[in-house]
Amino acid sequence: MLDSIKKMFAGTEETETRPSGAKPDISREKSGVLYEKAKKYFPGGVNSPVRAFKSVYGTPLFIQKGDGCFIWDADGNQFIDFCCSWGPLILGHNHPKVREKVTEALQNGLSFGAPTALENELAELILKHNKYIEKLRFVSSGTEAVMSAIRLARGYTGRDKIIKFEGCYHGHSDSLLVKAGSGLVTFGETSSAGVPKSFAEQTIVLPLDNIPALEEAFVQFEGQVAAVIIEGVPANNGLLVQTEPYIRSLREITSRHGALLIFDEVITGFRLGFEGAAEYYQVKPDIITYGKIIGGGMPVGAYGASTEIMSHISPDGGVYQAGTLSGNPVAMAAGIAQLTELVKSGFYKELNKKAEDFTDAIRRFVAAKNYKFNVFSIGSVFWFAFTEHDTIRQASVIDPQSMEKYKVLHRELLNRGIYLGPSGYEVGFVSAAHSKTELERAKRAIFESLEVVFKN
Ligand SMILES: Cc1ncc(COP(=O)(O)O)c(C=O)c1O
Repeated sequence: MLDSIKKMFAGTEETETRPSGAKPDISREKSGVLYEKAKKYFPGGVNSPVRAFKSVYGTPLFIQKGDGCFIWDADGNQFIDFCCSWGPLILGHNHPKVREKVTEALQNGLSFGAPTALENELAELILKHNKYIEKLRFVSSGTEAVMSAIRLARGYTGRDKIIKFEGCYHGHSDSLLVKAGSGLVTFGETSSAGVPKSFAEQTIVLPLDNIPALEEAFVQFEGQVAAVIIEGVPANNGLLVQTEPYIRSLREITSRHGALLIFDEVITGFRLGFEGAAEYYQVKPDIITYGKIIGGGMPVGAYGASTEIMSHISPDGGVYQAGTLSGNPVAMAAGIAQLTELVKSGFYKELNKKAEDFTDAIRRFVAAKNYKFNVFSIGSVFWFAFTEHDTIRQASVIDPQSMEKYKVLHRELLNRGIYLGPSGYEVGFVSAAHSKTELERAKRAIFESLEVVFKN
């Protein structure tokens, strides 16, 4: 391959001089060839935008396989994976119990579009260990779960408007691809071409951690708000952990105004603990959406609520929602196998302790070095932030300039065999498959990489 093409596929631009301690780039030659080919087939060469590595250096890595906490790319590079498919792989890759159960289900066919006992089995497992919902409906993605929950809230209350928060992501349905307008409490503006203005006008976008703004919105739109939706713990624009009083206030204010409270637990559900953020904050929302972990890596989402609220869903009620592949038997099998491991005694205690030791060690290191860097974490979710702040609760506090430093960190980590999501706004995940040995190795790589970043 020509040298110039090789450089194009490597981790960085040709012209850059790197600080001492920077590692040479791993080969991305085969990934590069695959990416060039993919660009002919898919917009930007990918089937989901963040995968295109637009916010970090180099060509996207094409992943060939995963096992435990490791993944391997097309060039044979091995990485300790902290992306874990963006969260669902809480047991790690290729877990034997999940693989066995999926293989068993495969023998009976892939899809029937008719009920199977596996749906009952997974629902029973979830509902038996989750006191926050009484009935649920399986769908095929987080986006679908949230979109359906919003429709349910509108159908249930007979109101149209919803309130969401700046810095929360809820999938790509029209009502939710909306960002804040110019005033504190105004209609939202579309954040994607193709979303009708009239849809965006049904969504009010408010800053997180700001109760007066919420109160004001309810005064301004009295009797019109169907629901307030918040991520269990906002984890798509950094990790913006909210206080318990704030979450309790959301509960109180929504109830007072006859609006529903929706927790979008697509990330936090079955992650912070089996009952997710609802349990963490001890707050009962009206509707909860789930995704990711329920499917163990297969495309599954769900939404759940009280029997009374769920009775409004078709065919019992007038809110229509359906899916050819909903409750797919192979996906249900993966979910049953994974969730069976999660309900075992001590699972979350062990996982969260391991993650806490890992993040504490990094915090100690950066404090000793006086780096403008922090690790925010909750349970087994963490976020690397180039900031002086001890807490960040609002998206506006994140400095976009700091993402330049993340780019360098990301490249140095890849070159040391550590895989993090390709954007500094994304969180990382520790799985049950990350052993102490690998976490030690990862810590050393992180320390070395931060030294390179701060020499820049
Ligand atoms: C909180 C939250 N809600 C909804 C979604 C959308 O889920 P999906 O990508 O499965 O459609 C995501 C995806 O990351 C998410 O993090």
